[in-house]
Amino acid sequence: MTELNKIALKIISQGKGILAADESNGTMTKRLEAINVKSTPENRLSFREILFSSEGIRNYIGGVILYDETINQISSTGKSIPDLISNSGAVPGIKVDTGAKKLANSPDEKITEGLDGLRDRLKKYYDLGARFTKWRGVYSISEKYPTKLAINSNAHALARYSALVQESGMVPIVEPEVLMDGNHSAEVCLNKTSEVIKACFDELILHKVDLSGIILKPNMILPGSLSENKISSEEVSIKTLECLKNSVPNEVPGIAFLSGGQSEIEATENLNSINKNNNTNFIMTYSYGRALQQSALKVWSKDIKNIESTQTTFNHRAKMCTLAAQGKWSNELENK
Ligand code: 13P
Repeated sequence: MTELNKIALKIISQGKGILAADESNGTMTKRLEAINVKSTPENRLSFREILFSSEGIRNYIGGVILYDETINQISSTGKSIPDLISNSGAVPGIKVDTGAKKLANSPDEKITEGLDGLRDRLKKYYDLGARFTKWRGVYSISEKYPTKLAINSNAHALARYSALVQESGMVPIVEPEVLMDGNHSAEVCLNKTSEVIKACFDELILHKVDLSGIILKPNMILPGSLSENKISSEEVSIKTLECLKNSVPNEVPGIAFLSGGQSEIEATENLNSINKNNNTNFIMTYSYGRALQQSALKVWSKDIKNIESTQTTFNHRAKMCTLAAQGKWSNELENK
């Protein structure tokens, strides 16, 4: 077993999942303004520190993805944020892309940037304690999209990123996110997502990335958010498993889904069905941002000094997701 494979397994084994707390300052500002909390570096840290020092992190979370601001912050107890996370037994990670920009010659689509100077930034993050990283490619679905240009250029960037991350001794999370926006069917999502993931693996292999030392972070197969043809959780799981079985090489140790705009309950129930029906060798877990933090953020906004209620809410959510990552979640447990 290589060192990278060991790190990947430490993050996603035994039902543990990933807390994606890597919202950029712009995104975090939107989240905080929506609950009438001022977006200052102190308030951003304050909410995140409450989560990072919770029982939920200790019991259910194998890795935390940070944003550049947070990885450089010091907690109220004087510990660095990566130390706070690793002392709870989770692995600190860092988002290293610099965002999605207009793709030249197909300006309605996006290309994720951040390769220039990446080797030096990775060294800095490793020294701060990070042992895994994230890079998100983003694709939208419509009749024309995603184009081959968007699929191939993002796959190329994800592969160059992954090779550099492994060279620096860290595990890359490879995140090709096909967005839920639109009125397309789940079948279209299945076809487009499969095409996107296959292109990513073609490039990862070309760039000699060690596939046993990555974690794939895909979207689930869902109908577009504006589609009238909703499907059951059982159908989501069957389509998602079909997609991954046919497009992900066996060496990959695990898959950690993004929540992508699903509600907390939808993201939990769908992950649970995926694990109940999992007929692959892949570990299937979660790497949720909104679907882990939404309720906790709401509770916190009522009284930002109320650490205990915020943590209780987060702990429950993380526990439910971890049950779902083992196919052991139920409505009764959710409402107990
Ligand atoms: P969501 O789970 O809110 O989609 O966030 C996951 C993530 O890291 C997106 O890049």
